[in-house]
Amino acid sequence: PSLQQYSTFGLNTSCTSIQSFSDVDSFLSLYKNTDVCYLLGGGSNSIFTETFEGTVLVNEIKGISHFDDENSHFLRVGAGENWHELVKLCMQNEWFGFENLALIPGSVGASPIQNIGAYGLEVDTLIQTIEAVVLSTGEKILLKNEDCQFGYRDSVFKHALANKVLITHVNFVLPKVYDLNTAYGELAALTNPTPHDIYHKVIEVRKSKLPDPAILGNSGSFFKNPIVTHDHFKTIADQYEHVPHFTVETKSADDSVKIPAAWLIDQAGFKGKTLNDVRCHPTQPLVLTNLGDANGSDVLSMARDIIASVSDRFNIKLEPEVRLLGSKGLISL
Ligand code: EPU
Repeated sequence: PSLQQYSTFGLNTSCTSIQSFSDVDSFLSLYKNTDVCYLLGGGSNSIFTETFEGTVLVNEIKGISHFDDENSHFLRVGAGENWHELVKLCMQNEWFGFENLALIPGSVGASPIQNIGAYGLEVDTLIQTIEAVVLSTGEKILLKNEDCQFGYRDSVFKHALANKVLITHVNFVLPKVYDLNTAYGELAALTNPTPHDIYHKVIEVRKSKLPDPAILGNSGSFFKNPIVTHDHFKTIADQYEHVPHFTVETKSADDSVKIPAAWLIDQAGFKGKTLNDVRCHPTQPLVLTNLGDANGSDVLSMARDIIASVSDRFNIKLEPEVRLLGSKGLISL
């Protein structure tokens, strides 16, 4: 079967079979009977570049339950729920906290894997625990936030627990009193914003810059924003005027610098460039799009060209933010 409808990038590639499940027991019986499989959520961050020789198992575990106490709202959400629908529901009920993360495509179960983030907020700050099933034994486990080793677009689910567990539910905690995240870019221009104001602004900004996957196939940011040493940043800043950057703390150093990959790709001359039906997006070069009939090898060629060109010019190796799949599973560039 074709995977075109299962990935927002929309390549016309296929796999051996596609099965969906809506509870743990049906997942376990499907899993027992598959040899090679890939667990898929909303398909907004996975690109199947060629025929995948295995089964794609689509997580459709649903359900949202809510309770609150004096200090916080608590939500238990099935992994197969749509992320933005959850944000919308919370805004309607005035369970605030998710507003900066409006309109991010994908499923709730995928959100912790890459620790989705936007406009100054990363989802890990709102996650209390994660319910999962160990693939090899079927055992249900509960991971605390600190067990998940969250980082920038990173978590234990990409490392020690990669291909080892299925996320079934995410438990969120939204404190009733908290500081709104208003520092990032366009949000800073709002005066005394309410959570609703932030929510609407984020939607407006995203709509203006990012292509809508329902109209133009894409997977959001194709690369991560690289983090370099302060010295490395200085050598770039000595050669280029006004290099956009943010100082960040990392595990290894406290004065590392994050440089927008969009700027590096733009400088390398790729903005708006096409390779057959793959285009580097004209208003946000961090996004690659499918003009209609793109194929996997063009996506990989374009990505490799960008990586090589940015590396030659800036001595920075861009890393994919999306998950790329070949015939046997995940591939790296
Ligand atoms: N820029 C250019 N040329 C352009 C466009 C942008 O040089 O044509 C530079 C500008 O300096 C701009 C900077 O890139 O200030 C950053 O752009 P933007 O604020 O739009 O965000 P980003 O760093 O490119 C990140 C996330 C997005 C998230 C936005 C907003 C990553 C990999 N991407 O993008 O996340 O929505 O910030 O918070 O961290 C995603 O992960 O799929 C995603 C879309």
